[in-house]
Parts: sequence; C-alpha cells; structure tokens
Amino acid sequence: MMKTKPIDSVVVFALFSLISFFAQANCQVCDSTTSYDRCSTNSACGCFPMAGAQNVGVCAFLWKFCSQLVPCGPSQDCSDRDHICVHHRRCSNGPVCYPLSMMNENICPPASPVTNTTVATTTMEVATTTKKAKFSKWEQNGKIVAGSNMEGEQLSDLRRPNGFILDKNRTVDVADGGNCRVMQWMSGRSEGNVVAGGNGYGSKINQLTLPIDLIIDEQDNSLIIADFGSQRVVRWFNRTHQEILLERISCDDLATDKYGYFYVCDSKQNEVRRWKMTEIKGNKGVLVAGGNGKGNRLNQLDTPGSIFIDDEQSIYVSDRYNHRVMKWKKDAKEGTVVAGGNHRGNKSEQLDGPGGVIVDDDGQIYVADSGNNRIMCWKEAMKEGELVVNATAGASGLNEFRYPSDLAFDFDGNLYVNNRGYNRILRFDLMTQ
Ligand SMILES: *[C@@H]1O[C@H](CO)[C@@H](O)[C@H](O)[C@H]1NC(C)=O
Ligand SMILES: *[C@@H]1O[C@H](CO)[C@@H](O)[C@H](O)[C@H]1NC(C)=O
Ligand SMILES: *[C@@H]1O[C@H](CO)[C@@H](O)[C@H](O)[C@H]1NC(C)=O
Ligand SMILES: *[C@@H]1O[C@H](CO)[C@@H](O)[C@H](O)[C@H]1NC(C)=O
Ligand SMILES: *[C@@H]1O[C@H](CO)[C@@H](O)[C@H](O)[C@H]1NC(C)=O
Repeated sequence: MMKTKPIDSVVVFALFSLISFFAQANCQVCDSTTSYDRCSTNSACGCFPMAGAQNVGVCAFLWKFCSQLVPCGPSQDCSDRDHICVHHRRCSNGPVCYPLSMMNENICPPASPVTNTTVATTTMEVATTTKKAKFSKWEQNGKIVAGSNMEGEQLSDLRRPNGFILDKNRTVDVADGGNCRVMQWMSGRSEGNVVAGGNGYGSKINQLTLPIDLIIDEQDNSLIIADFGSQRVVRWFNRTHQEILLERISCDDLATDKYGYFYVCDSKQNEVRRWKMTEIKGNKGVLVAGGNGKGNRLNQLDTPGSIFIDDEQSIYVSDRYNHRVMKWKKDAKEGTVVAGGNHRGNKSEQLDGPGGVIVDDDGQIYVADSGNNRIMCWKEAMKEGELVVNATAGASGLNEFRYPSDLAFDFDGNLYVNNRGYNRILRFDLMTQ
C-alpha cells in the first residue's frame, strides 16, 4: 500500500480551504449507479453513488486519501452534518462519509448539460373535461410545464428534479434536487420562483441538500420537504422560518391522506411510517407497511421509493428493487402485488425500478417505470400493464423519457410526468373523444 506523502496533504488542505471559500451554488448530483463515472468537465471528479439512494450520486473530487474518510453510521448517516454518506469502493466496502466541501461546482463543473434547441411551447390551455382519470388516452406529445430545454440553475431551469405536486390552479411545486431548492411554477410561465432552499447545500436550517419530495400542509400552507441529502424532513413556513421535523431519516417520499395523517417512505429501513399531521415533530410514528427487513416476501420491501395513499388509507408502495408495486390495506400485516413482481424486465408484465405511483378514482394504478423509461397503467388484478405514453410514438424529442420518477394528474385528467433525466416536467393532455 502506498503511503500518503506529506506534500499531498498540504495540497489537499489548501484545496479544502479554497473550496470552502466559494459560495456553493448547487448540489452537484449525477445519475449513476456506477462509481466514479465522469460527471464533470474536470476529469479529477467522479460520481459517488449515495448510500441508500436509487440512481442518485454526487459529483465530487476524487479524493485520494481513504484514511481520512470515516465509515457511515449504522443507518448510513454521518455524525458530521457537513458530510454525506456515499459508496467509495476503492476506499472501503462499506459506505463512507464524504465532505460536502469536495462537491463544489467550482472544482467539479457540471459536464455539458443535455441541451436541445427545440423550442417548447408552454401555452396555457383550459381543458374542458370535468372528471379525472378513467384510463383512456393521452396525447403522445408532451408540453414542458416546468424546466427548459437544458439543465441549469436559472429560474427557467431545473437540475435533476424529483418529486412534485400540483394544485388546483395547476401550479407545480417541484423538488429541484440538483439546485438544492424547491421551485414553484405557475401554469403557463416560462420560469418559476424559489420557494425553499436555494442557499447551497449544507446543514444550516435554511439549506436543502438534494430535496427529493414535498407536500403542502394545508393547515398553514407550509411546505414539508424530504431533504434526502441531509437525511431529514423539514418544514418551511416561508423564506425566513423553518423547522426540522424529523432527523436521521432516509425519507424518499412523503404523502398525506384526507384524514390528516402524514406518511414517510423510508428507503433504508424498508418501511412506511405514519404520523398525525399535527404530531410529527419528536414522534416516531407508527409502522404501516414493511418493517420486516429488506426482502421480497409479501411483508417485506426492498428500497421502496414512492407511496400513494387512497381514500381507504391503503398504501401503495413502489417496491423498487423487487420491481413491483405493493398494496397494503389499512392495518394489514402484509401486502399484495398489484403491478409487476415478475422480475426486472421490460415486458408488459414487468417493471424496472419503479418510481412514482398514483391511483385514479377507478383504482387503476399508474407507475413511472423509471428504468424502462415509460409510464404504465395497471388495472387491479390484471397480470400486465398498458403503456400510457409511448415515447417513441411522439413526434418530438420532447417526449423521450429518461428516468421518469414522479407523476400526477391535474383536475382535468391531464398527466404530468417528471422527466428527471431531461430536467423538466411534461404535461400530456387527456384526449377527449
Ligand atoms: C388559484 O387561483 C385563484 C385565483 O387567482 C386564487 O384565488 C386561489 O387562491 C388559487 N388557489 C390555489 C390553491 O393556489
Ligand atoms: C414566516 O413564518 C413565521 C412562522 O409562521 C411567521 O412568524 C413570520 O411572520 C413569517 N414571515 C413572513 C415574512 O411571512
Ligand atoms: C427489452 O429487453 C430486452 C432484453 O434485455 C432487450 O433486448 C430489448 O432491447 C429491450 N427492449 C426495449 C424496448 O428496451
Ligand atoms: C410505440 O410507437 C411506435 C411508433 O409509432 C410503434 O411502432 C410501437 O408499436 C408503439 N409501441 C406500443 C407498445 O404501442
Ligand atoms: C432535439 O430534438 C429534436 C426533435 O425535436 C431532434 O431531432 C434532435 O436530434 C435533438 N437534438 C439533440 C441535440 O438532441
């Protein structure tokens, strides 16, 4: 084994100081499951997959000194809040805590972004149908409703957007993971407003590090945000007042139900827990799905990524590495497979690392089949799903999906899809026959 030369330590220390000095603009995320993939114009940077996350890594300086990295804690956390738990196989078999200061975009400028000069129309159209959701047909040409033709950090851009929500006015609130902020995008606008974060990554109360999902607490209109990178759930009352609700939690997705409960999908504990909306802070919540270790039995989950709660308080969980969607009825001790579950694959009865799941008024299940770059619809008890948006059938490159990870319907039944890999949210209008 090579010994670290003192001179290198000095260089690293200088670099460290230099990096900490810069204002930190974004989260430096990369989509990769492969360690050290190129992610920056600086070849001394590489992608480090985040422990416990799916296809999310951080782009960081390829730091040579393994001896200075400490292993993550038992739940893949770091006691030092300025570190993030990543896989670094050259250094250690287990995940290690990596300093946020090594992920600065001044050191690791993003590799050339996905750009497409096709100009998207963001016209606002008032749909005429009244009732959402019967499975029918959607236009195969999407329109951009948030984000632009390129990855970026301007108010018109998104960078690796994650979960989003839609309100009755079709305003989109989106966890703009790679920009460490939450953006609010009014319908028909070509740019959004920052409503949370936007202060670089880090552990300060007003910072977000890889926000992954959000909900609105209708009691006081505050935003509750799953900040995956900081392993916490925070409430934003406004730009000046925030509070931490839950800490040391690998929350991938949040949900509420109409009875005033709040749900967290925990991808590391392989479980879903529930709180009373008014009693989140300081409480452990109640286990409502999974919680029997990682596995593929009907009472287990493997890295669940997304949840949906129906009016009967059944929980639909996209069970990522089991490539299936499970339904846990209220108080059930195990779930049933309602989509996929036929190993990983791209046939119509299969899924590949499913992400967002939603269920319509008729009980039909829509799944962002992330690994297959498609959206599927499964009618309950059916053995296979139907293709909802056939990307290849669309006329423009706009439709091409790359890692769609969340979806929603507006009041009129138009389908919104987070096209994560292309840094935008698309709307597919319901066709009215
Ligand atoms: C929707 O827009 C109307 C009119 O501008 C406004 O009064 C209402 O508060 C908005 N609703 C939401 C949920 O933002
Ligand atoms: C922000 O929220 C806090 C807590 O609800 C409130 O006391 C404060 O007045 C709000 N500030 C602004 C500028 O709205
Ligand atoms: C589906 O998977 C098979 C086997 O991995 C592969 O050969 C085929 O190209 C895939 N089809 C599509 C549309 O991706
Ligand atoms: C998707 O669209 C392409 C191009 O129109 C077509 O060839 C293909 O059969 C369609 N796939 C499905 C599953 O409908
Ligand atoms: C941009 O999209 C158009 C289709 O709208 C496609 O023909 C073109 O190849 C794309 N350009 C790039 C650079 O991806």
